[in-house]
Amino acid sequence: MLEARELHAAYGRIPVLYGISLAAAPDRFLGIIGRNGVGKTTTLRSIVGLMPLTAGDVRLDGQSIAGRQTHEIARMGVAYVPENRGVFPSLTVLESLTLAARAPTRSGDIWTLERVFDVFPRLAERRANRGDQLSGGEQQMLAIGRALLTNPRLLILDEPTEGLAPLIVLQIRKVLRSLRGSGLTIVIVDQNLETVFDIADHVVLISRGSVVAQGPSATIAGDQSLLNQYLGV
Ligand SMILES: Nc1ncnc2c1ncn2[C@@H]1O[C@H](COP(=O)(O)OP(=O)(O)OP(=O)(O)O)[C@@H](O)[C@H]1O
Ligand SMILES: [Mg+2]
Repeated sequence: MLEARELHAAYGRIPVLYGISLAAAPDRFLGIIGRNGVGKTTTLRSIVGLMPLTAGDVRLDGQSIAGRQTHEIARMGVAYVPENRGVFPSLTVLESLTLAARAPTRSGDIWTLERVFDVFPRLAERRANRGDQLSGGEQQMLAIGRALLTNPRLLILDEPTEGLAPLIVLQIRKVLRSLRGSGLTIVIVDQNLETVFDIADHVVLISRGSVVAQGPSATIAGDQSLLNQYLGV
């Protein structure tokens, strides 16, 4: 469904990605892990067209999307939830969600406002509150809710549990797990390894802009020497 081939990217003249290749199958969840600054966010940004590639290709269902505009990629069914969540401070929860809603690019399972409120009851309670009145956890729920309402085929999440209270982390994990089998493909980056191993089927480990290991979630999770070498855990 998603295939990134040999992605190279640089900030100015400083290379950051040195040939990242990864793939996510339909209805499968891919996790990306690695230390701070290894290029996880840059990889996601290159996939969604926010970071120009110096080489490589990104394919969505076999079609190249490299070099396309971010909004065009979004229209093809790719939803991106950035690290900072991108919540509009002056819009209410209801306004943000309503503005995000879009017709699906695939058949099956359709996301509606009611369904988002069902999954995140807290957002229903806070529907009249503005973005800047929400807690970090509520903002993350809103960011995910908004992304789901675009009815994407591919949902890309950068650090969805960063800085959140343990209870909220569990809740977000549960929601993401519940999306399994709904026809959605997920790519998730998270510093919280438990979250990634819990949600992802397949995990890619990045170090200094290169993929150093990949495999089924359980295999990577069980490889203590690998985790120790590249993540220091
Ligand atoms: N706007 C920028 N300008 C210059 N260098 C940048 C910029 N953004 C990131 N970098 C550098 O690129 C490298 C990769 O950054 P990136 O944000 O992709 O890493 P990351 O794996 O997402 O890290 P983190 O875990 O901290 O989120 C880092 O060395 C970082 O310092
Ligand atoms: Mg990052």
